[in-house]
Amino acid sequence: MAKARTTAFFCKECGFESAKWLGQCPACKEWNTLVEEPVEPKTRGIGFQGKASGPASRAEAAKIRPARLSEISLEEEDRIGTGFAELDRVLGGGIVRGSLVLVGGDPGIGKSTLLLQVCREVTEGGKKVLYISGEESLKQIKMRANRIGTFHGDLSFLCETNLDSIRMVIEREMPDVAVIDSIQTMFREDVASAPGSVGQVRESTNLLMQVAKGLGVAVLIVGHVTKEGVVAGPRMLEHMVDTVLYFEGEKYASYRIIRGVKNRFGSTNEIGVFEMQDIGLKEVENPSEFMLEGRPKDASGAVVACSMEGTRPILLEIQALVAETNFGMPRRTAAGTDYNRVNLLMAVLEKRCRYELSRMDAYINIAGGMRMNEPALDLAIVLALISSYKDKPVPEDTIIFGEVGLSGEVRAVSMAEQRVREAVKLGFQVCILPLVCVEKVKKIEGIRLIGVSNVREAIGYLT
Ligand code: TYD
Ligand code: MG
Repeated sequence: MAKARTTAFFCKECGFESAKWLGQCPACKEWNTLVEEPVEPKTRGIGFQGKASGPASRAEAAKIRPARLSEISLEEEDRIGTGFAELDRVLGGGIVRGSLVLVGGDPGIGKSTLLLQVCREVTEGGKKVLYISGEESLKQIKMRANRIGTFHGDLSFLCETNLDSIRMVIEREMPDVAVIDSIQTMFREDVASAPGSVGQVRESTNLLMQVAKGLGVAVLIVGHVTKEGVVAGPRMLEHMVDTVLYFEGEKYASYRIIRGVKNRFGSTNEIGVFEMQDIGLKEVENPSEFMLEGRPKDASGAVVACSMEGTRPILLEIQALVAETNFGMPRRTAAGTDYNRVNLLMAVLEKRCRYELSRMDAYINIAGGMRMNEPALDLAIVLALISSYKDKPVPEDTIIFGEVGLSGEVRAVSMAEQRVREAVKLGFQVCILPLVCVEKVKKIEGIRLIGVSNVREAIGYLT
């Protein structure tokens, strides 16, 4: 008789299951991500409403009736405000009742702090919240809470990692919102592998989905992101939850960005900006002002660009340093933006404008440590490079945006009007933009528009 299989190999990134070990995951194409784990006996999957789905008997199936659109009622006040306008916008207007939200981010970035502050605001609004921590003791939570401020609402805490007990507590307490901090510390008794393993993380999320959909409790899950190591990255959770938010920022900078990567109840490209202070996180209402603080005046290689993040324009400073190469191979780095894009733009300058950049080292940096990849930054990167190369500063009241094509043409970008408005708001006087966009923004007063159709024209304005 064949021996029953007791272990299988799972991909840490996407959860793919294989009977034998493979160097590369066939599903997500990542290398070296398969780990051996005990296999679970097959359980029935769970359906959208948290009810068991799968093979049903004929009698059961006879009772199922599809609904017409007119029979579906949308409940009033489906969303719970988080008290932070920045976060509400990313969520699409607040936390949806009965939804599963994953908040991912590096350890120590401030996920627990953010969620504790959200809990405080939500309970101030008269809602009931249960915060379950598998990482910290009640004392540690209290210490953090003391830094943040005073708490008055119906907020209770539980230190527990056994999800089967947690489920019973949630069923008994019936909070409006439950926080699970973090998914990597949680375990289910009926799953043999260790907490944090692929199997545990997947089954734990399954159970939390049943809780969310079945009881109508909004569940916020914290997930640590680690590329290597035993902890299963929350990437494979992204398929299971309704909303995925990433909390990011540089360790040495005080601002934090919350970014929506997936949202079944709203758009995904919105960001919210926060600043980590010693009394918790504070919203940054005007990120452009924040990003341009302390900008050098009349320095060559520094230009101000405008990037759209969802519906919001953000001004930021792009710095370039171009210097002669000491060794044969020129060095290029791009901090905060796409390295390959910078290389491409330098090739365009070399070929179309005859600048000898192949002998030059080039360093591009988005000041403040923000990460932006919009093609609308192209023209600003080009002008920053040339400004540094020629050692000619771009006037400090000038803002630049536009996409650059391979033949050196400057192409239209979306939402030009919003970008220019933001620039006017911050006191900029001149805007270099794609010629085709000028028509659309002509009616804005207080700023001189310079439309350019190719890179050479734009460089002409540098002198
Ligand atoms: P934390 O929320 O514990 O991070 P995570 O849950 O993502 O691991 O935040 C930890 C960091 O934030 C820690 O370095 C201390 C800092 N912090 C502040 O700067 N100000 C504060 O008010 C709080 C509560 C934390
Ligand atoms: Mg934490």
